[in-house]
Amino acid sequence: MINENSALFTIFGATGDLAHRKLYPSLFRLYKKGYINEHFAVIGTARREWTNEYFHEVISDSVKDLVDDPEQLHTFLSHFYYISHNVKDAEHYVELKRLSEELDEKYSLKGNRIFYLAMAPQFFGVIADMLKDKNLLTEEGFNRLIIEKPFGSDLESATKLNEQLRRSFNEDQIYRIDHYLGKEMVQNISAVRFSNMIFEALWNNKYIDNIQVTLSETVGVEDRGDYYDQNGALRDMVQNHVLQILALLVMEPPMSLDGRDIRSEKIKALRSLRLYTTPEEVRRNFVRGQYTSSNEDEKGYREEPKVAADSQTETFVAGKIHVDNFRWAGVPFYIRTGKKMAQKETYIHIQFKHVAMNIFPDEGVEEVAEPNILTIHISPLEGFSLRLNSKRIGQGTEIKNIRMHQIFDEKTQANSPEAYERLLLDSLQGDPTNFTHWEEVEQSWRFIDNIRNAWDELPCDPYEYESGTMGPEASYDLLKEDHFDWIEFNWSPKNGENHSYTNME
Ligand code: BG6
Repeated sequence: MINENSALFTIFGATGDLAHRKLYPSLFRLYKKGYINEHFAVIGTARREWTNEYFHEVISDSVKDLVDDPEQLHTFLSHFYYISHNVKDAEHYVELKRLSEELDEKYSLKGNRIFYLAMAPQFFGVIADMLKDKNLLTEEGFNRLIIEKPFGSDLESATKLNEQLRRSFNEDQIYRIDHYLGKEMVQNISAVRFSNMIFEALWNNKYIDNIQVTLSETVGVEDRGDYYDQNGALRDMVQNHVLQILALLVMEPPMSLDGRDIRSEKIKALRSLRLYTTPEEVRRNFVRGQYTSSNEDEKGYREEPKVAADSQTETFVAGKIHVDNFRWAGVPFYIRTGKKMAQKETYIHIQFKHVAMNIFPDEGVEEVAEPNILTIHISPLEGFSLRLNSKRIGQGTEIKNIRMHQIFDEKTQANSPEAYERLLLDSLQGDPTNFTHWEEVEQSWRFIDNIRNAWDELPCDPYEYESGTMGPEASYDLLKEDHFDWIEFNWSPKNGENHSYTNME
């Protein structure tokens, strides 16, 4: 049974892209499912002078694909209010407080408040201060602050920001979004690991040869040139999404699925990542690249709007990460992510070791016994594949490599909640499991800062890679040195095959 939750959402940055693309549709889905119903209200604020009516039009537009009953949409919209607001102006918080109290009363919200900061991070601190100073935090209900990334740009700025937020909110009230933690298959990593003996028993350096994590994108920097040129792929993707995925792969089994237990294991996992302390170590283990155009109609990174013409910012990173603990000593974790790559895909490959001795023929045969690989497809495919060896049908003892797939079909995927929907509901229900704890942020920056500092110390251009490829050659060399290769499956479901099946061709 679904229980209705009651809360007032105040969205700072209500006119922005994130609110339009993600937040309003997610709220509408929660509404349709009954997680919010009569006892909720939303105040949208931003600098622009919008009326409530215009605000409603914008929301209608953002949820138009989800509407199956106009009356339902109408009632949903009636819970939304807009006020124009300058976050630095103390006076504006007086009006915000007045409206919050009025809505609290009108919808019986029990003083429950969620403040969503969907705007530039330089305002996070001042908003948190003002919310407290101007008495927008209630005594009787819960007060929760949701913040978007980036959480600082290095350890120092992140610490400062955290200290500022902590003046008004305690750690339990701060929900730091990493939308990858809201993805179905990222949440599934723990289920695969901890509910399957065949994986959990082998999940260590005795049986695993290497682990590869790829988050590739086909888009360039689009209209975010100014933000991106200051940050690059390392800060934009590795510090958060990649390291969060890594923590889930590396962590020890938590005592329970309680958020505190999982987070404390993740913190330990992040603490065990080896820090590269010299530029030489960084050079040996990390590669950065920058895309160039592959044809006249396309822009290379340096031609993108708001990007410096001599920019050294990386749009691609590949790295080899060591995890210094008993379980993982000696197993390399290879990660890569970048813009303008060949495919938009996120997947993890866990490559197991060869059997101790191969008794099958490996000469004069079509296929030889290959190491087992467990692939976790995160997006756009969602599911798992397992590469196994079998005997080729017929006489003889030749090996046939097979793959077993469990891929969610389109209908299942379409019905599965979107990342922001899950995270909004978690915050509403007070479940911090899929948000990043401050200590995770702290450890991640510690790891990233070393790499960043080494790159700044050794200023040299990133390797070029042509857009539409999987990154520069140097990224392949990184693995070749260890006698590995990036595993490219090139597998996509054919019609009618996008579910559970085994490829025995
Ligand atoms: C964001 C980054 O955090 O993640 C973007 O800032 C990136 O640069 C995006 O495009 C990728 O998210 P997804 O869910 O599309 O893989």
